[in-house]
Amino acid sequence: GIGVGVIGVTVLTRVPSECFSKLAPFIAKRRTPRIQEQYSRIGGGSPIKKWTAVQGEGMVKLLDSMSPHTAPHKYYIGFRYVHPLTEEAIEEMEQDGIERAIAFTQYPQYSCSTTGSSLNAIYRYYNKKGEKPKMKWSIIDRWPTHPLLIQCFTDHIQKELDLFPPDKRKDVVILFSAHSLPMSVVNRGDPYPQEVGATVQRVMEKLNYSNPYRLVWQSKVGPMPWLGPQTDETIKGLCQRGKKNMLLVPIAFTSDHIETLYELDIEYAQVLANECGVENIRRAESLNGNPLFSKALADLVCSHIQSNEVCSKQLTLCCPLCVNPVCRETKAFFTNQQL
Ligand code: FES
Repeated sequence: GIGVGVIGVTVLTRVPSECFSKLAPFIAKRRTPRIQEQYSRIGGGSPIKKWTAVQGEGMVKLLDSMSPHTAPHKYYIGFRYVHPLTEEAIEEMEQDGIERAIAFTQYPQYSCSTTGSSLNAIYRYYNKKGEKPKMKWSIIDRWPTHPLLIQCFTDHIQKELDLFPPDKRKDVVILFSAHSLPMSVVNRGDPYPQEVGATVQRVMEKLNYSNPYRLVWQSKVGPMPWLGPQTDETIKGLCQRGKKNMLLVPIAFTSDHIETLYELDIEYAQVLANECGVENIRRAESLNGNPLFSKALADLVCSHIQSNEVCSKQLTLCCPLCVNPVCRETKAFFTNQQL
């Protein structure tokens, strides 16, 4: 048997958009042979699994020494639409005899369409089975302003700013780019735009507002209205107005994947930037294998364990205009866990 204090950490992480059914036809259409070649040049696809494993590995190693009384810690990866699926991760955890599980979202900022959807999947798993979990569950549902997260972003921005020509450095416009949301999601009261804004604000504070900046939104698909301004239109608009030096910062992704390596690096920083006559454009590195980022994750889990809380206060409130009954059931499922 497994002793008390074994912590299973489900790392629920961002879905590579090429696997997101809604986006698939759109992406497929654009996969011309040239793009396919570029895909293979960025490593043949999304490195998100690799980075998530590196981060998980670093996190549990630190956790074992930070919180020896709850060791050993083990991480499991659960994706929403690709393998290993959240359901597969739960099964493995139950089989391993884990007694205490933490659903740790890898999206720093909460959205019902990302973290919320993964939490609903955990609830649905048990509901469908008609069984109560053998493990005690709790959730780290958001961490948009964790000091070490902010430090990592700030370091990566500073490092990249230093690579601009010295006479341009002060004029570089920092474009924080986050995955956009349909306005129908925003307007039912989803917390994501505000939480992304909170991350941006903390990072700018830490940079002493050294440069002008904007928060912009990428990856819109389909004809329906999405939250803007769009990243590509912003790059174009700034160039037309004589602002031709910019730094792209992926602020809602912690690992490289198709939105950074393909959309930001190839579509925007190469193709689009050439078209509109950008002088210098760079992209801040994703947090990927930065050891300080693993430390941030370990610190989050450690404080979470100490807090003895099932979830944040914020998770208890449904979107004011939520129409999905499962959201309420999911929240009840988690808040009823007895730690
Ligand atoms: Fe936000 Fe249901 S959509 S709680």
